[in-house]
Amino acid sequence: MTTPRPSTDLPGIGVLVSGRGSNLQAILRAIERGDLRARVALVISSRHDAPALEIAAHATVATRVIVPRDYPTRAEAGAAIVAALREAGAQVVALAGYKPILDASVVRAFPNAILNVHPSLLPAFAGGMAPRPQAEALEAGVKVTGCTVHFVTEEVDAGPIIAQAAVPVRDDDTVETLSARILTEEHRLLPQALGLALSGRLYVEGRRVILR
Ligand code: GRF
Repeated sequence: MTTPRPSTDLPGIGVLVSGRGSNLQAILRAIERGDLRARVALVISSRHDAPALEIAAHATVATRVIVPRDYPTRAEAGAAIVAALREAGAQVVALAGYKPILDASVVRAFPNAILNVHPSLLPAFAGGMAPRPQAEALEAGVKVTGCTVHFVTEEVDAGPIIAQAAVPVRDDDTVETLSARILTEEHRLLPQALGLALSGRLYVEGRRVILR
């Protein structure tokens, strides 16, 4: 008979959210299926009313609400985030629909260990929160868009790219239909990229991420 490993042996992921939480759900499902050998150590929300908090509670994952404007400075909010992530034992961090711009101190505390998912093929349509990148892709008339998972650096949406998935744009697409197809790819790509980040096989060389 084998004794199951206690879940604390698994590497911890911190997930930062602000809204719906479908990417958080995808991470939890990948763990449940055994596709991602990790545990969600903590979910931090920038809003008290984020539906993602209910998803975390349902999965009995610890949650914290850290609202940046409740702190005198962004650096102090950043320090609270770093302390909470460290206390929970997070080794990597996923920004999964997290709206505030992270203070540089958080980025420096987790070098090449914070991953963001963005709904476009970066560097195209960088900078905006969903659904702006999807709307911009439609307006620009591109035939292919998609999503990107990248390491977070101090420059918004400009960190080294870990993985991308292409999604064709259809003639009859609306922002909603296009966003839905991109989201399906996000749900596949983010857990996969987290697994790679935890594997220790990713090396950042300049702007490139190399898998060894
Ligand atoms: C996703 O489209 C993601 O690319 C963007 O914000 C959205 C978050 O959705 N960064 P959800 O909260 O994970 O459902």
